[in-house]
Amino acid sequence: MQDAPETKDAENGPSAGEDRLWLGTKLQQTLDLIYEKYKDVDEGTLATYIPELGKANPNDFGICIATTEGEVFTVGDWEQEFTIQSVCKPFAFQMALERHGVEEVLKHVGVEPSGDAFNAIELDERSGRPFNPMVNAGAIAVASLIKQDPVVAGIDAFVEKMGKAAGRQLSIDNAVLASETATGNRNRAIAYLLLNAGIIDEAVLETLHQYFSQCSLLVNCKDLAMIGATMANIGTQPVTGERVFDFQIIKHVLAVMFSCGLYNYAGNWAFEVGLPAKSGVSGGICGVVNRQLGIGVYSPKVDAQGNSVRGTLVCRELASHFGLHAFDFSNVGSSFMQWLQ
Ligand code: DON
Repeated sequence: MQDAPETKDAENGPSAGEDRLWLGTKLQQTLDLIYEKYKDVDEGTLATYIPELGKANPNDFGICIATTEGEVFTVGDWEQEFTIQSVCKPFAFQMALERHGVEEVLKHVGVEPSGDAFNAIELDERSGRPFNPMVNAGAIAVASLIKQDPVVAGIDAFVEKMGKAAGRQLSIDNAVLASETATGNRNRAIAYLLLNAGIIDEAVLETLHQYFSQCSLLVNCKDLAMIGATMANIGTQPVTGERVFDFQIIKHVLAVMFSCGLYNYAGNWAFEVGLPAKSGVSGGICGVVNRQLGIGVYSPKVDAQGNSVRGTLVCRELASHFGLHAFDFSNVGSSFMQWLQ
């Protein structure tokens, strides 16, 4: 067995400012190297079951890391916008929990990994609920809980909250929304299954419109990293200082991202990357390093599970390079001992 590496000498080591500068340079260099390493990976396919997503440029590749101190590091096509797709799901879940409380929300959706595809037409046999809020069935149940009357009010509330977390105003891609609405028969089937099971109310079309609209939010890598950093920063946007997410709720959302965020790859992800994260079929991944970082990656070619191929490679490499895995000996960002002082 190897000896654990030595910890830093607090007295003779560099000052906090020097340390931070060194870390920033190191982060940028590492991002540049990882970008170069994976930019020519050409595996995966564009998701075309939503026809508008098939128009993405398969070569696009961007990475961004945002710290809870508000520093931002970028490489590649980080400004390229894409629709958030399933990466909306944890944040909609956060909103549902904030609005209705844990007990009520858990009557409508579980927190158990399904081990099945994101679009499986199934409910948990034991509980009668969708398995979790990261698969479509659970996300549609959540959309039902955060929709409002008129339906545009619920969509606006979601867009506004996500914009506050990103630190800029966001908007919906109406072409993708129309494309998904036109072809979303599988999600319609799931929604009627949920109505039949008493999980959602009669306003099925409004619920679907809320869900499709959430998925059609336009973001870039930096937005995903900032939203992740806001979660990492216990709900306060690192740059604007605005309190966006209820910090009491974040632990529940990160736990579900950790166990279910990558669908039927979630176990492998927890093992290899070890971070709460969420992927979407448009090729985005948002990762959270508790109390430290948000990670945003975009590359639109996805694997059989609907996860970005390059995005998965990048997150795996970042986690192993910087020891970000939640259970890595070097990840010491979230210490409950500080509360006891
Ligand atoms: O419901 C759908 O099929 C899409 N709007 C979102 C699916 C998605 O992003 C799955 N993630 N990999």
